Amino acid sequence: MPNIPLTIDAAHLAPNVTPAMVGAWQDRLRWASDTLTKGTGAGSDFRGWLDPATIVTEAEIGEIEGIAADLRDNSDTLVVIGIGGSYLGSRAVIEALAAHDAPKVEFAGQNISSRYHTDLMARLQNKRVAVNVVSKSGTTTEPAVAFRLMRSFVEKQAGADAAKSLIVATTDKNKGALRKVANEIGYRTLTIGDDVGGRYSVLSAVGLLPIAYAGIDIKSLRQGAIDCKAAIDAEADPLKNPALFYAAARNLLYNQGFVTELFVGFEPRLHYLIEWWKQLFGESEGKDHSALFPASVEFTTDLHSMGQYVQQGRRFLFETFVQVGAEGEPVLSLPEGDDADELGYLAGKPLTDINHAAFEATALAHRDGGVPSMTLAIPTLDAYHLGALLYFFERACGVSGYLLGVNPFDQPGVEAYKKNMFALLGKPGYENQTATLREAVAQKPEGSMISFG
Ligand code: PA5
Repeated sequence: MPNIPLTIDAAHLAPNVTPAMVGAWQDRLRWASDTLTKGTGAGSDFRGWLDPATIVTEAEIGEIEGIAADLRDNSDTLVVIGIGGSYLGSRAVIEALAAHDAPKVEFAGQNISSRYHTDLMARLQNKRVAVNVVSKSGTTTEPAVAFRLMRSFVEKQAGADAAKSLIVATTDKNKGALRKVANEIGYRTLTIGDDVGGRYSVLSAVGLLPIAYAGIDIKSLRQGAIDCKAAIDAEADPLKNPALFYAAARNLLYNQGFVTELFVGFEPRLHYLIEWWKQLFGESEGKDHSALFPASVEFTTDLHSMGQYVQQGRRFLFETFVQVGAEGEPVLSLPEGDDADELGYLAGKPLTDINHAAFEATALAHRDGGVPSMTLAIPTLDAYHLGALLYFFERACGVSGYLLGVNPFDQPGVEAYKKNMFALLGKPGYENQTATLREAVAQKPEGSMISFG
């Protein structure tokens, strides 16, 4: 079994969660884990991500690397168009790992803001632009709208013929409007399997093409996930299996009234990993009026804003810290005898040590303030370990969802706003609801509009 150096430090979970309490959940965990791996639970058709060796094969990795290299040769910016699971995974990896001189990746279609897209196109004016439009359904409004904009932009910039080779669509094999457009125009396409939902798709072509474009080693990313799977599969004891332990601990805390999990990073480049994590757990578990609310803070920045609340506000929070290894530089150098800023005691210390001390100090203070915490750690933030960490969370999320009693693979609640929006915008097929909804929007009960004068 590969030895995946991914650890959980659970010292600050006691007395709320102890090894004995997790051990006592062994049978329940085995059931949840088997439900996931054997496909006996709700949503079992969406487990194509379970094996990172087959979600993309080695041959497909070669194809993705080939397309990425070709796009890189012919552009200096890739615009990735997608929303939710269709962009958060690639953005998480790119922002965590891309070198500062890597080919630029921009994102579009994750909102419908005029200003955002106008600014984006202004930034792209003098660039050679390629596009990867990603939509599993091929019908999601936000990316479809952004794709209309970007398609015209690239066609105008490069000419209609050249644009064909600068646009790659990642979508369903047969279904959806995007597949139709891609087939009609003749774009290159990559496929998302029927059995992989968006938020579990980072290690498929959805995530891998943009990640490869940014110059990140997708083979290592995949290998980290493959090795993490082997390690999880080989260990049934939750006290030796971080994925089972994490799933158990967060559910034990939830049952005690700790209804919000704060995911905490101390590295700004983890911002989108945190956003990805929030989507994974929020969309997978938030059903039947239950589930932990996945929230986040980024320290030490937020210690000077939300830190007060975490330390002394209402007690319903626990924290999951993520630590990703030390860096050597920069080191605080102070000439001897120069202590006017009272930092002499830090002379010779790398910033990373000061950041680590801030983390340890915070975890202790918050525990004393009644906020249990655990710390997930990988020794280095590189493609291999990030691949392992992503897979770890996906796997823990599947188990946690079944422990909670929900289907971790659907998202029926996302449809409610979509139907309303279609009706309000007058989409064909929604005519019956349009009048009622427009009336509901216009209705302002007495006293509901507050203004000056
Ligand atoms: O995780 C999910 O399934 C969702 O977040 C989807 O990724 C998101 O709604 C975008 O869907 P699509 O890829 O079909 O455009």
